[in-house]
Amino acid sequence: VQAEKGGYDSFMLKEMHEQPQAVRDTMGARIDEENKRVILPELKMSDAELATYDRIYIVACGTSMHAGLVGKDVIEKWTRVPVEVAVASEFRYRDPIYTDKTLMIVISQSGETADTLAALREAKKSNVKVLAITNVVGSSVAREADEVIFTWAGPEVAVASTKAYTSQVVALYLFSLYLAQVKGTMAAAEVAEVVEHLSEIPGKIASMLNNDDQIRRFAEGTKEVSSLFFIGRSLDYAVSLEGSLKLKEISYIHSEAYPAGELKHGTLALIEDNVPVVALATQPDIYEKTVSNIVEVKARGAHVLGFATEGNHDLAKSVDEVIYMPATLPMLTPILTVIPLQLLAYYASVARGLDVDKPRNLAKSVTVE
Ligand code: G6P
Repeated sequence: VQAEKGGYDSFMLKEMHEQPQAVRDTMGARIDEENKRVILPELKMSDAELATYDRIYIVACGTSMHAGLVGKDVIEKWTRVPVEVAVASEFRYRDPIYTDKTLMIVISQSGETADTLAALREAKKSNVKVLAITNVVGSSVAREADEVIFTWAGPEVAVASTKAYTSQVVALYLFSLYLAQVKGTMAAAEVAEVVEHLSEIPGKIASMLNNDDQIRRFAEGTKEVSSLFFIGRSLDYAVSLEGSLKLKEISYIHSEAYPAGELKHGTLALIEDNVPVVALATQPDIYEKTVSNIVEVKARGAHVLGFATEGNHDLAKSVDEVIYMPATLPMLTPILTVIPLQLLAYYASVARGLDVDKPRNLAKSVTVE
């Protein structure tokens, strides 16, 4: 087993470090370098058919569902197609509103999650076209979906998903760009700009993984902490949910992710002296709004770790410490922001002497309802 961990102390650490390669593999041949556009040769349906879809459901569980939340914002922004994200265990028992222009996207690392598979089967019974984003070739989801985009992240062993998430997010970027090309909702130059930034992502992930001292120290400081909050708006909120889940899963620290603007409607009551708050402020269009929420938690005594984009000289004034993200397009930041959040969960778990790879009560793949 030690050999399989490739010199790392745990599968999770190894898999986090595999992310630059995993996302490179997800992009792989799907990026036409010469023309700076996306190609998805695996799609069986025609571009004309793809262009007809005007409503999308994204259905998944756990971390895969969180990737879907990023996908929703990206698809809506780039293609103007409304997207609803649903937890599979809820969706399968709903009475969803399908039309003949509804596309369902299921996301599953393993391709075997019982609820996700059941939701897929329900949709197929209603003759809804299902596109799967999965990591496992030959899995039930891959076999039963009409269309499959494989993430090619390689096997993931740790229960806490890391490289599967980042590769799912990349797959969703690629799908969104492709849909935008087909629908004509983005100019070729805009697509080219995103494609160029995407190709720099692996290097930026690597640099964040290699500069983890600050997040490690913050995580080690959570040893006696009983509760930790994540706040952010829009895409920062979507990533906060994943950061909070990761922390709960492997460190057993109670945690909540909250849309920063919603704090005052309840959660603010839980903020008192020295409660740690991780505040994500990477989205320029709502930056000022997030800062004013940070000021609110600071005023109640919170210890705030802010996340800002490199070159931001402002956030440091309002928080206790700042982690700087390499600059990229705002829509692409989730894939970078999640890296220190994964590291936070990892080091918090290690500091407590827990089994990082096999947290209590959880399974890698939940094949029963
Ligand atoms: C389990 C795992 C999670 C995962 C979820 C969905 O709960 O512990 O890490 O996100 O299942 O799994 P899937 O294989 O469908 O992505």
